[in-house]
Amino acid sequence: MKAVVYEGPRQVGVENVPDARIEVPTDVLVRVTTTNICGSDLHMYEGRTDLEPGRVLGHENLGEVVEVGPGVVRVRVGDMVCVPFNVACGFCANCESGLTAFCLTTNPEPGVDGAAYGFADMGPYNGGQAELLRVPFGDYNCLVLPEDARERQTDYVMLADIWPTGWHATQLACVQAGDSVVIYGAGPVGLMAAYSATFKSAGMVMVVDRHPDRLAKAEEIGAIPIDDSKTSPVDQVMELTHGRGADRGCECVGYQAHDPQGHEHPNMTLNNLVKSVRFAGTIGVVGVFVAMDPGSPDDLYKQGEIAFDYGMFWFKGQTMGNGQCNVKNYNRQLCTLIHEGKARPSWVVSHELDLDDAPGGYEHFDRRDPGWTKVVLHPAGTG
Ligand SMILES: NC(=O)c1ccc[n+]([C@@H]2O[C@H](COP(=O)([O-])OP(=O)(O)OC[C@H]3O[C@@H](n4cnc5c(N)ncnc54)[C@H](O)[C@@H]3O)[C@@H](O)[C@H]2O)c1
Ligand SMILES: [Zn+2]
Ligand SMILES: [Zn+2]
Repeated sequence: MKAVVYEGPRQVGVENVPDARIEVPTDVLVRVTTTNICGSDLHMYEGRTDLEPGRVLGHENLGEVVEVGPGVVRVRVGDMVCVPFNVACGFCANCESGLTAFCLTTNPEPGVDGAAYGFADMGPYNGGQAELLRVPFGDYNCLVLPEDARERQTDYVMLADIWPTGWHATQLACVQAGDSVVIYGAGPVGLMAAYSATFKSAGMVMVVDRHPDRLAKAEEIGAIPIDDSKTSPVDQVMELTHGRGADRGCECVGYQAHDPQGHEHPNMTLNNLVKSVRFAGTIGVVGVFVAMDPGSPDDLYKQGEIAFDYGMFWFKGQTMGNGQCNVKNYNRQLCTLIHEGKARPSWVVSHELDLDDAPGGYEHFDRRDPGWTKVVLHPAGTG
């Protein structure tokens, strides 16, 4: 099968690799029709993880079931399914409590909880930027989509990761009706967090970034854009909240946070959140941080440590939640919002490409070229 393979820093190739196949009785085999490039792929693409060359990328996958193992009882050949980026078993203590991002059985690395497709340090699973994807524990992991799935793939595919993740940011931040919310990052995840906060009837949503095209997307859904290349985002949030700070904050950037000039400061968004969220406010961090980052220009962060304003965070009595999203906690409900015509998360999509054009897609999205907000790949062709 054809697949997008990580070859080394800033190098992906579309290669022929052995077909994904049913390996154990509980597997489902999906012919991938829609699969996205994610900001998480970019950490790997830029060589800022220990992902080994040769791995197939892609953890935001949707397609048609073409084969099921003999132990699969629910999912059927022909079903259209969206697959959460988490590979989860469904029967461990964490899965049973809804913590599918921290599944205790699917990552073979001792002492590491949680697994994902085509992801550094998240188990051996190949990704779905390919013609075929093996889905372990298929009955548990496949969200079977409604009858309009084929026509609305670019909406439903957002259920694999970024919409649940944006929603998760607002859950961790405890966003409630009427709240003011500041979101750092207007990439696809930050935009989905803004979208989610809006669904939760937030009173005011402010989104910080420096890319005018991305800020314009935020504005399209009624958020207030804050361009941190023109103004201090902290001052701006303070002004908009009458000097109090936002009730809630979301981090949707991650460890490669940088200033508008491009210099990386892994503590930048976290400290800006502490400053721009109010006393006793709540913060949700879904931007990825890693335990070790040898390639970081920041000496502390090479060891995974951050110069975090803990004193101010404590003094303000703030609370912070963080980590990978447990996609299964939200994907079914968000699916209903799409099916019922209440949500159209495909509004973030800027490009739909053939799998063969993935290397160019990665290049543009990685440079955050104007207009490249979210890239969707179609392994079976765009036609
Ligand atoms: N927790 C999860 O389950 C989960 C799931 C998906 C993605 N992620 C992570 O979320 C993060 C964002 O993903 P994305 O797809 O939106 O990626 P992205 O890289 O396209 O978007 C990040 C945005 O942040 C902006 N930015 C950089 N520094 C900033 C700063 N100091 N202040 C404000 N904005 C700044 C960039 O200009 C960019 O637009 C990544 O770290 C990704 O790995 C986490
Ligand atoms: Zn993703
Ligand atoms: Zn589990």
